Amino acid sequence: MSNNNGHVLQVVAVSGGLNTPSKTESLIQNILDELSSAIAIQVHFVKLSEIGPLLGGAIYRHQLPEKVQDDLAKIESADALIVGTPVYRASFTGLFKHLFDFVEQTALVDVPVLLAASGGSERHALVLEHQLRPLFSFFQAQTLPIGVYATDKDFTPEYTLHSEQLKQRITLAVARALPILEWAPAKGIRATALEQKSKQANQHLGINKQIEQDGVLPSITIPDLNTAEARIHKKPFIV
Ligand SMILES: Cc1cc2nc3c(=O)[nH]c(=O)nc-3n(C[C@H](O)[C@H](O)[C@H](O)COP(=O)(O)O)c2cc1C
Repeated sequence: MSNNNGHVLQVVAVSGGLNTPSKTESLIQNILDELSSAIAIQVHFVKLSEIGPLLGGAIYRHQLPEKVQDDLAKIESADALIVGTPVYRASFTGLFKHLFDFVEQTALVDVPVLLAASGGSERHALVLEHQLRPLFSFFQAQTLPIGVYATDKDFTPEYTLHSEQLKQRITLAVARALPILEWAPAKGIRATALEQKSKQANQHLGINKQIEQDGVLPSITIPDLNTAEARIHKKPFIV
């Protein structure tokens, strides 16, 4: 299945979790599963638990191993991002931020970003609004209206998500995201448009330098929310 124009949505998920297994990765996977039940997506999952040790010592992109450079190129050319992090000291993990410090600063303009986080306590739920949203606002990304926050209590000891409330929150977040995702992805052309730019960035880009690009802006045909929600669970949306 593909979206209206025949392109499959290229979704890049990024988890700032450093442990394996990881509740954050499990949370993001649940969001991806819900999304893929509604629309055709192709997923690339970047896990800091895997690339963290490859990333820590690098200051410039050309110092990064190819694997991480490829991940950065995928992030920069995604139609949409799903980002999640465990709360560490009331914020995202340091390595999550370090990864995004390498992302070229205009590459995410208008890209829809669904925000997620997992913490030990409910008291840090606003990490979504106070830490993650400003970071992606800096990039002029389109942060989606509903984020998803989980706590350790929402998971089984095997890190499966068991909270019905949280599952409902995921459904709502995805339903709200769908209309935006369907108009915002630059019709699958971001990957081609940004390929050259990411290559350049990997070779020459110092932190906080910018490479000019032509805009890759979305169209503005927004389908309605009721239709979107009904596509997930085959029932009408009740307010
Ligand atoms: C170094 C460190 C700092 C943490 N700081 C916080 C915190 O400030 N607030 C909070 O709610 N949980 C905090 N936690 C708990 C984690 O956010 C929580 O257990 C999270 O679900 C772990 O996700 P993971 O399984 O993906 O690693 C901290 C955990 C660690 C290891």
